[in-house]
Amino acid sequence: MRRELFDIPEGVIYLDGNSLGAPPKHVAERMQEVIRHQWGTRLIRSWSEGWWETPQRVGDRVGRLIGAAPGQVVVGDSTSVNVFKALMGATAGTTRTEIVCDESTFPTDGYIAQSVAGLRNLELRQADPSSLDLTENTAVVLLNHVDYRTGRLHDMKELTEQAHAVGAQVVWDLCHSAGVLPIELDALRVDYAVGCTYKFLNGGPGAPAFIYVPHHRQATFDNPLSGWNGHSEPFGMKPAYEPDPGIARARVGTPDILSMLALDAALDVWDDVDLAELRERGLALTASFRQHVEKLTSLEVITPDQRGNQISVRCENARNVMDELIGRGVIGDHRPPDILRFGFAPLYVTDDDAIRAAETLAEIVN
Ligand SMILES: Cc1ncc(COP(=O)(O)O)c(C=O)c1O
Repeated sequence: MRRELFDIPEGVIYLDGNSLGAPPKHVAERMQEVIRHQWGTRLIRSWSEGWWETPQRVGDRVGRLIGAAPGQVVVGDSTSVNVFKALMGATAGTTRTEIVCDESTFPTDGYIAQSVAGLRNLELRQADPSSLDLTENTAVVLLNHVDYRTGRLHDMKELTEQAHAVGAQVVWDLCHSAGVLPIELDALRVDYAVGCTYKFLNGGPGAPAFIYVPHHRQATFDNPLSGWNGHSEPFGMKPAYEPDPGIARARVGTPDILSMLALDAALDVWDDVDLAELRERGLALTASFRQHVEKLTSLEVITPDQRGNQISVRCENARNVMDELIGRGVIGDHRPPDILRFGFAPLYVTDDDAIRAAETLAEIVN
């Protein structure tokens, strides 16, 4: 519990860290330094004083939180763009015929999978992760680790093995699980993973996303967006594209340094976090909120036991109920047509917050 490290207004119960994480206090000060000193005093020299390598350096910091050894994660672009890179990479040269994507996926993943299917002349099949029915026609499976709507946690080990058993690759979207539980990308031999950093990692609005390409895939990873930042000699200004041999080949264009350095600063609060302990706290908070909602209201909690740090509740007039909750200082969000979502970031949500939020919800709906 590190609430004192975060800027959250007095009296606010913030349960939307699964959408936009709260700002660690020191980020504002660090950004002053970045803008005044690195951008101001050092001017263009800052590119050779660390800025250029920031995507890989910050990528390694994220890598530690998702079970990736150094040199396999790069930050930059958005999750949508990184889903595109990963799916194009996983389907390059395939003789298989389909992409499979989870049917309740966050929409952007489905839209991008549809584009990739069109570009590669493949079918896109949507399926429930409990019955993917993968076959030797499946080139790649795109899965959300935690479902954004219900909070359901999918079994990464089991589903990765299912894909590999038929010779398919797997792309995991970790938007709702990075910073929630221990993840073992290397140990599970995951092929690609992507995710955003503005939710539980508190990187700030629109903070750059990440992409994981493991060492064993890097030499053949064909980044469809062959921008100059991914070139083996970006300052050679050569006419032909030759990809960097390592993870830098997943880069595209000039990194958004200000956002990236805000993320870098935000990651300081993660330096000594034990993810197994954090997971226990997340499970305790969500269990307590669930119990109180079930005891105090007749609302249906739709989040299963296998879950991330989110509890979703079915509720008529979800939008109005959420507006009323926010008016009373309990900030969550809603998704159409009738779902209230409450995210529990254990770094700053307290046991008392979980109980008071359920009580406030009960006052409104009863
Ligand atoms: C599972 C998932 N994937 C992708 C995204 C969004 O991607 P982007 O950052 O490109 O908007 C979200 C945003 O909420 C998400 O929940």
